[in-house]
Amino acid sequence: MIDFHAHILPGADHGSDGLKTSLRQLELAEAAHVDTIVATPHFYPQSDSFSEFLHRRERTASELANHYHGPIRILLGAEVHMCVGLDHLPGIKELCVSGTSVILSELTFRGYAGNMGETFDRMQDDGLIPILAHVDRYDPDIIESYFSQGVQGQVNADALIHRFGRRHLLNWIDDGWVIALGSDIHMTEKGYGPYLKARGILGDRAGRLDRETARLLKDAKALTNGETQKGEGSWISSR
Ligand SMILES: [Fe+2]
Repeated sequence: MIDFHAHILPGADHGSDGLKTSLRQLELAEAAHVDTIVATPHFYPQSDSFSEFLHRRERTASELANHYHGPIRILLGAEVHMCVGLDHLPGIKELCVSGTSVILSELTFRGYAGNMGETFDRMQDDGLIPILAHVDRYDPDIIESYFSQGVQGQVNADALIHRFGRRHLLNWIDDGWVIALGSDIHMTEKGYGPYLKARGILGDRAGRLDRETARLLKDAKALTNGETQKGEGSWISSR
């Protein structure tokens, strides 16, 4: 079971206030039988220094890797706030899930959510695979305009729990536009309860999403897990 979107790096953003919280988040994920988590700290190109972000992510990822010895494979990524021209950011590849060209891309809520078409186009031309974060949060017409240009999406677990709006999310999964499920976990209050509940609602679709996500991440390199520590390399190819 893969969690494609999670804020679990200690102190990297408001998702975890420190190591104790991050380890508790991973304990909750283990109890839910999650085996793979993509750590996706927020990156805001409008206000964050890119080098500081990379440094912070590296430091917090190392701290977690040094203290977590459980079975979950943790992959390193980012949740990148979209802005027009993001494709010009030197080193943008660093924001992809480690070892892949997959970049979790968050649209803004205000006004500009529909203005990213050309930026996504250029990102795709450059070989990146942008995945829209929590597609459940936005105007479906805007999201479908991105689907029509080949950008796929991730859905948050808690959106599937509510009946309102669920139908079109399930349709998007069935049509192959939504290819990943995320807890979007922040701190520990909600834990993995909504994630498990969502999987129950998804039924067979949950396994299909896992397979599609695994395909997307087939070249990913794990930050920490028993297998890579034994030198077996890519977590999926080692299966
Ligand atoms: Fe998030």
